Amino acid sequence: MTKIYKSAPLPFQGQKRRYVGEFCRVLGQIRDARIFVDLFGGSGLLSHIAKRERPDAMVVYNDFDDYRTRLDNIPRTNALISDLRSIRGGGKSKSQRIASPQREHILERIAAEDAAGYVDYITLAANLCFPGKRATSYEELSKQTLYNNIVASPYDAAGYLDGLTITSCDYRELVARYRNRPDVVFLADPPYLSTDVSTYNMSWGLSDYLDVIASLAGQHYIYFTSSKSSIVELCEWLGRNAGVGNIFAEAIRSDVAATVNYSARYSDIMLYNAV
Ligand SMILES: C[S@@+](CC[C@H](N)C(=O)[O-])C[C@H]1O[C@@H](n2cnc3c(N)ncnc32)[C@H](O)[C@@H]1O
Repeated sequence: MTKIYKSAPLPFQGQKRRYVGEFCRVLGQIRDARIFVDLFGGSGLLSHIAKRERPDAMVVYNDFDDYRTRLDNIPRTNALISDLRSIRGGGKSKSQRIASPQREHILERIAAEDAAGYVDYITLAANLCFPGKRATSYEELSKQTLYNNIVASPYDAAGYLDGLTITSCDYRELVARYRNRPDVVFLADPPYLSTDVSTYNMSWGLSDYLDVIASLAGQHYIYFTSSKSSIVELCEWLGRNAGVGNIFAEAIRSDVAATVNYSARYSDIMLYNAV
């Protein structure tokens, strides 16, 4: 029996775990598609589910973050975590803080593994940091308070990527390659506006999200967003007010720096066309 993963085999921020059931239901209604293109593949969970639901179809997993290198290194990560379990010792309850001297021993073991070549810091952070805290390097991890969130059993991704066509490129390349084909459905789960994107390889602004929307015009898609983003509201408004255009196109702009606190800065902006 081929295993169906209901969540990504390794921790991944923003994976569509909670959508698996609904996504399957929608896939079951799509009859004419022969190709699914997962533009923002992330952990590959949507690609994996699409391939399991539609083994007859080609499923393109765009592994922009090189998640498969993390998967390839699972044996190494499991060995490291097994050593961390031994260092932690017995008698620690779940989520309990790991204090000296175990903390130092754990960090030493991780530094040695780093020097030996590869450490999956995203997975380690999920095992050792306060829930939701992230780290992508030794430097970041070693600054954090450590907690016992070490998984009880080894990670396993056997067969997870089976049958997928794997790419790693900007989503625009894939849209250009597959657009205007009646048998193609784009899966579009871009990084959400207003969420922490610190573990992804990018920084996104509003125009980037609008570029995604524009690239999907006239195409078949399954698009994901969240109530924290106003993208759907913006698109509905544009639909009602298509003729407005950019009223600021001819305006003169004047920015004034404002400071909220030592780390948060923004600008107030005045725009005028009255002179
Ligand atoms: C919300 S996550 C996708 C999560 C995925 N659906 C899952 O279930 O794991 C968005 C992904 O888009 C990736 N990404 C960012 N910029 C991209 C680009 N220009 N082209 C393709 N992917 C990009 C991010 O690195 C991140 O992995």
